[in-house]
Order: sequence, then C-alpha cells, then structure tokens
Amino acid sequence: MVNIPLKRMQHFAVEVSDTDRSIEFYRRVLGFKLTERHDAYEVKGIPVELTFMRLGDVHHELVLMHNPAKKYTDKLARSEEEIEGPPSFHHFAFECDSREDWLTVLAHVKGENVEIVRGPVLHSATDPRGDGSWGENEAVYILDPDGHRIELFCNLATIDPDGTHRNGEGVRMEGTTTAEL
Ligand SMILES: [Fe+2]
Repeated sequence: MVNIPLKRMQHFAVEVSDTDRSIEFYRRVLGFKLTERHDAYEVKGIPVELTFMRLGDVHHELVLMHNPAKKYTDKLARSEEEIEGPPSFHHFAFECDSREDWLTVLAHVKGENVEIVRGPVLHSATDPRGDGSWGENEAVYILDPDGHRIELFCNLATIDPDGTHRNGEGVRMEGTTTAEL
C-alpha cells in the first residue's frame, strides 16, 4: 500500500446561522479565542463569512462559516432524530489531556447551562461502568447554538502495532483486536 504521509486531522468547519452567537458560545463554553473574522466577498470568490478560532497557538482549529445570502431555518439538526433529509455530519470532538481536566470541563459545561444530549458516559464493553460501546473514552455530548453535536472526551484507547488496544491509563487490553493494522 502507498504510504500516505498525513499527520493528523486538525480543524473542522461548521456552518452557523448567526456568527455572533456562535463566537460567543465557542468562547464561553469551550474556551476558544477569536483569531480573525471576515465578511463575505472580502476576498473575491469567497461569498461567505469566515471566522477562525483557536484553542492553542495554531491559527485555527475551528472555522465558522456563515452565508449571509442563505435563509437559515431555526430547526436544530438533531442528527439521530432526523428520519428524512440529506446526509449530515454526526459530531466533532475535543480531547482533554486527562480525566481530571475532563471533569473540569464537564463541571464548566454544566455550569453554563448547555444542553447535554448524551452522557457523561464511558464508551467501553469491558469496563463494568461502560455502556458496551467502543473506544474506552469517557465522553459527554453537547449541542452548539445551531444544534451541531460536540463531544468532549478523555482517555481514548490507542492501538498497539499488533492491534491490541490500550486503554486511557495505558493498560494493554489483551484479547482485543483491530480491523486493520
Ligand atoms: Fe466521537
């Protein structure tokens, strides 16, 4: 197989119905900083507002896209409850370095009265506290002002070269397998 030298997935662009409202949400709830915001047609050929936000020191991890010519509905895109419509995305996720940090984020989110649509939950089929699903991560799912689902998590499993999973504490989970090495 050809070696494809991609390093990681890095940013996500989401369409928003109200740029101000979304900037406020991502700043207050998730701690993003505004890098720069641009109007539609500020650059020829770009008919949409683009807002770049960051968590750390890279220019952006999140892009907010708003089309001022588009008539947005105010219906929340609750992806698992939609039974008709075009394919959409399901969620995007933010990782904490430790469970302690994740608990801090969880408490913060609860304090901001953000809607929690799932969790907190441990995605595990082996841990007695788990929900029977996959990844070994602890997660909570919230909605942004437009209904985009956001996962906040810690302790996602890693995959050893032989396919054995290692849980968030670094313990090899003997007997686990991976579809492709
Ligand atoms: Fe996820």
